[in-house]
Amino acid sequence: MNRVPTGITGLDALIEGGIPEGRSLLVSGGTGTGKTIFGLQYLYFGAKKYNEPGIYVTLDERPDLIRQDMIRFGWDLRKLEDENMLQIIDGSLAKLGLPSEEQFSLPSTGFDLDKLLLEIMRVAKRIGAKRLVIDSLPALGFNFDNENEARKAILKLSYLLMKTGVTSILTSEIAEGENKFGRYGVEEFVVDGVIVLHYMGIGTQSNRTMHIRKMRATKHSEDLHPLQITDKGIAVRKVEEEYEV
Ligand SMILES: Nc1ncnc2c1ncn2[C@@H]1O[C@H](COP(=O)(O)OP(=O)(O)OP(=O)(O)O)[C@@H](O)[C@H]1O
Ligand SMILES: [Mg+2]
Repeated sequence: MNRVPTGITGLDALIEGGIPEGRSLLVSGGTGTGKTIFGLQYLYFGAKKYNEPGIYVTLDERPDLIRQDMIRFGWDLRKLEDENMLQIIDGSLAKLGLPSEEQFSLPSTGFDLDKLLLEIMRVAKRIGAKRLVIDSLPALGFNFDNENEARKAILKLSYLLMKTGVTSILTSEIAEGENKFGRYGVEEFVVDGVIVLHYMGIGTQSNRTMHIRKMRATKHSEDLHPLQITDKGIAVRKVEEEYEV
């Protein structure tokens, strides 16, 4: 089985080299745990290091702000976009019923999953995308009072993404301490892998951790790993390293 390296320092060694090709990974965590940075690091290094074009679907944050924020890590997204190695699909304004000035966006009239999938397939074909990030799943606005409906929608999404041939990361929010890994409580069953990011907002040291909840077809680490966000992005460390001086 081919593996798609995540580009997250320290992570690939914990999952036999990367995400199984063509599958989807859910990255879930509370607010500010690093889900957006995780997704963009996957796409940035995918393009830079592995020469794989990627698509970033943003449903919460506006593309111009994301481009600005990522400069901080030295990641020039605009340049990748100009080289057709990255394409941002803006769903952030469509969701609010507002038109977007982005080249690739969803129509402001009626936002739905089928339109999003069509746009993804169109862009994927154009740039030959191998990687995709949807940030975030809850922002797609599935009806999560109806578990069955949400499950069906997410199943359809991951099936069509697989057909497109991309290896995907989907992000989902959970409140810290909540006993499920996605907003709907169903997405974790549908996807092939789940990584959970934690943040304990007290003190200055080791307040970020992550664990691999599942990764189908993979022998993966079962530890709670320290995680760092620095000016270089996200790095996962081994448990032993935490105790080195
Ligand atoms: N240069 C940096 N150095 C250290 N930490 C940083 C840096 N830039 C961002 N962070 C941390 O990353 C967090 C933001 O990460 P990110 O936006 O990926 O989180 P998220 O899980 O997507 O949150 P949201 O719920 O807002 O979508 C900030 O709150 C901050 O703690
Ligand atoms: Mg985010």
